Amino acid sequence: MGKSMSGIPGYIKERVEQLHKSIEKHNYLYYTLDSPEISDYEYDKLMRELIEIEQKYPELATPDSPTQRVGAAPLKEFTPMVHRVALLSMDNAMDRDEVAAFHQRVLRWLERNEITYCCEPKFDGLAVEMIYERGLFLRGGTRGDGVTGEDVTGNLKTIKSIPLRLRGSGSIPEMLEVRGEVVMFKKAFHELNRERIELGESVFANPRNAAAGSLRQLDPKITASRSLVFFAYGISDSTLLALDSQYAILSRLGELGFRINPERKLCHGVEEVWNFAREMQEKRDVLPYEIDGIVIKVDSLVDQDLLGIKARSPRWAVALKFPPIQVTTVLKMIGLQVGRTGTITPVALLEPVRVSGVTVSRATLHNRDEILRKDIREGDTVIIQRAGDVIPEVVGPVISKRPAGSKPFEMPDVCPVCGSDLKEYNERDEFKKNRKTVSIFRCVNIACPAIVKEQIFHFASKEALNIDGLGRKIIHQLVERNLVKDVSELYALTRDDLLSLDGFAELSTANLLASIEASKSTTLERFIYALGILHVGTVAAKQLALEFGSLDTLMAASKEELQKIRGVGQEIAQSVHDFFSNKQNKTTISKLLSYGVFLSAPSREKQRKTMFTGKTICFTGALSSMTRSEAKVLSEAMGAHVVDSVSKKLDFLVVGADPGSKYEKARSMGIKILTEDDFQAMMKGA
Ligand code: IVH
Repeated sequence: MGKSMSGIPGYIKERVEQLHKSIEKHNYLYYTLDSPEISDYEYDKLMRELIEIEQKYPELATPDSPTQRVGAAPLKEFTPMVHRVALLSMDNAMDRDEVAAFHQRVLRWLERNEITYCCEPKFDGLAVEMIYERGLFLRGGTRGDGVTGEDVTGNLKTIKSIPLRLRGSGSIPEMLEVRGEVVMFKKAFHELNRERIELGESVFANPRNAAAGSLRQLDPKITASRSLVFFAYGISDSTLLALDSQYAILSRLGELGFRINPERKLCHGVEEVWNFAREMQEKRDVLPYEIDGIVIKVDSLVDQDLLGIKARSPRWAVALKFPPIQVTTVLKMIGLQVGRTGTITPVALLEPVRVSGVTVSRATLHNRDEILRKDIREGDTVIIQRAGDVIPEVVGPVISKRPAGSKPFEMPDVCPVCGSDLKEYNERDEFKKNRKTVSIFRCVNIACPAIVKEQIFHFASKEALNIDGLGRKIIHQLVERNLVKDVSELYALTRDDLLSLDGFAELSTANLLASIEASKSTTLERFIYALGILHVGTVAAKQLALEFGSLDTLMAASKEELQKIRGVGQEIAQSVHDFFSNKQNKTTISKLLSYGVFLSAPSREKQRKTMFTGKTICFTGALSSMTRSEAKVLSEAMGAHVVDSVSKKLDFLVVGADPGSKYEKARSMGIKILTEDDFQAMMKGA
């Protein structure tokens, strides 16, 4: 159905251009400058208008359209990206003396007695390079070994602080290679980890690992779901922009639409550099992103050229690294936490101590093997490290202060909460890079009160069945008083049950009962997520819901069928299969359904308006890219009503191969006909 570009009315092209400009301007204000000028609602309105036009004229959905940021199809593997100009590494300086020595070398080499440095915080993220041709973002990749990285273009496009088209006035270079760092803000990092803990998944050790893990995803949709930010700090070769200093390059990159670090500063001599370093070290905890030092660059590009490169690092820059912050305190006890999936996690309960402005009284010990490897014992004086914003870590014991008679840690045989036997599993240790396997212990009693409480908490959470007002304290009482033994029993709670709880009165009781009742009508994807299946988060739950369309089909799926689905690996397939094979889980599910939890009802949340909202749609003929039931689920998720016959009320007929009489009938009635490709394109836009 391809129309040629020339068939498109001029006013449409103009409007699209306006929309691109306006949406990218608001992206820029929001994601780069952090100062939005319009409400989310108004923003959505612009975006929707553009989507609608592009659905009508797919050839207008050019690669630089803001609609293209959502994430392309997953890749099988990354292609290598060879950098035209290698990304160098940087020498480190550990203290003031080493900075002074660097300064002296620079002065000697240039035969000068003063010099200006451009000082910037050193981001602790992931270095990437982005290539622009005639102002358009073309390709981008990771640093890799400096010579060859990985092409992660599709993933970079999902990062809204990256301009798809360079902004601003003045001449845009024919080609520009911009370098910078992809980081995850601390807040997003903590949220992501909280979510992963909920899912029984391993946490990222620090924001850098989280950023790297998120950018190096074969499925751009996963990258899109992780809030990443790009900061530009340089270009591949200074001839690309006719400027004479690093400071000017940064300013120009800012004008071109990149986010640059406002903390940059020109410093004259070592004293000023040192003051900047101190200032940054003090600010370190309040900055929204992680830094691990400062970068000191000779500001003049002419001088940079004169200084040149030795081996793989330039003579004109040095990184001053901040020391990790360590303190000692007493480990009072090794506590054991039981997670939603029964995993037992040892935690260090510490004599509270202040580390870089934060009071620490707990630190994760990861797993038994880690404790034994470090030989951490109760009663030990231990070294605690907080490198910036990472989770406080127990570095190890101070052996000289070990009390007499202390014993190595032993994992108990039974669950600390319910007393049933623990089961030992050998799993990959995702915390440690070496990928060795470690022993993980799980309580496998699904009636364990600790597990039940965590499951209810998850079940009621916002992304699951969203039972407003059901917090940890209430759940604790419900389980302790035996009022609820599994999630389904929430729906059997009576007014009297709730009134018997501490702090409950008529109004709070009525409110909670109302939210429990309201939660009954939900979507399949929320329901799947709410079940709390090991490794099944919101993304996998959505995928499973779309692919299987109904709970029955999903429950009956074989491991092989599960594995065939995009985004569902062996691990997820196994745990989904195990979950639905378990008799007790099946009982809980049928209890839920018998209490009236109703899955096929339209989702309760305000559905985003799409161009399918409220429309009636019908399918005919064989679809090649999806099954009928997938098409139905997809359409319904977009707010459409799917029917089996053609009538005047029909808005769209989607026609597959060898369509039947419906096609003729719809045509004669003047109903809008869509090919499968049209339908797909519209779905993508919506
Ligand atoms: S400039 C040769 N500026 O540090 C110097 N690098 O470069 C070119 N890094 O992994 C790099 N913040 O990603 C520069 N403001 C900054 C930086 C920075 C972090 C990282 C960079 C690379 C490492 C060595």
